[in-house]
Amino acid sequence: LKQYPTRVWRMEDVTETLKGRDRLSHKGSNGRGIIIGGSVDMPGSVTLAAKGALRSGVGLLTVATYESVVPIVAQHITEATYSPSIMSSNYTHEQLTSAFSQYDALLIGMGLGRTQHTDQLISAALASNLPIVIDADGLFSLKKYLIELKERSAPTVLTPHPGEMAQLLNQTIESIKKRPFEICREFAKTYGVYLVLKGVYTIVTDPDGNQTINTTGNAGLAKGGSGDALAGIILGRVLQGGALLTSLANACFLHGRAADLSVRDHHSKTDLLASDVVDYLPIAFRECS
Ligand code: APR
Ligand code: MG
Repeated sequence: LKQYPTRVWRMEDVTETLKGRDRLSHKGSNGRGIIIGGSVDMPGSVTLAAKGALRSGVGLLTVATYESVVPIVAQHITEATYSPSIMSSNYTHEQLTSAFSQYDALLIGMGLGRTQHTDQLISAALASNLPIVIDADGLFSLKKYLIELKERSAPTVLTPHPGEMAQLLNQTIESIKKRPFEICREFAKTYGVYLVLKGVYTIVTDPDGNQTINTTGNAGLAKGGSGDALAGIILGRVLQGGALLTSLANACFLHGRAADLSVRDHHSKTDLLASDVVDYLPIAFRECS
């Protein structure tokens, strides 16, 4: 523990480190992000991620989702652009990698489905030279590309829940829950990744083994969609620059804090929805800035 400081990330830490808006900034300098996700079965996943990203500071956001999904997402998200062409299976590995390289950071995985096409997209994302965040079905596919993961020079952020972590490691959920701190450190150091192991207390680990623990959030988050919103918030904060461990810890704090404020002032833990959490983000941000 001396060698690898583990610390609880508190509101003072967020207030001290949360980067505000530069007076002279423009949309390009506030980060161009792309989210690759969604499918006919899961259009809400990418919608929630896009909402989370847009409420977390991203300057320009593109959503790459299947053509039939675009109208569904676009009905809810007015501020993003859409790139269904990236999702066409005619794109080669090289074309995908070069299309991704036009952005400052990429988030991939939620609602994509466990398909061969998801594998192709993950492989191209890993080959790109930009910070990438991998969630949900992207993590399932990642297991086939662990060597490529290790070889990346740009930062990679993985956001598994314990079930996804277990799958990635070929271990049981129980064994991960027994020693989550050590397991996260081992994995993060071996593969040179940032790891966000989600749960009641989310643990963020950097490739050197430094860790933060998040204590915000409540059981109202124990519903489908909460993780998708968090992934979007993470993309938004990663795009604002600064130390990545800090950006990730702040994203987790704000996600949980928005849920706590919503439950304090308006919703109950029973009826709270992931979209309500995103709607409370502005209050969480104001509180911390
Ligand atoms: N207290 C605090 N935070 C919680 C709690 C709790 N009791 N329960 C969940 N959370 C938070 C987690 O920390 C995380 O940020 O809610 C989020 C849940 O994220 P995920 O587990 O990724 O859930 P999500 O993707 O939204 O939905 C579940 O994952 O396993 C797949 O197929 C499954 O579609 C399903 C999806
Ligand atoms: Mg999830």
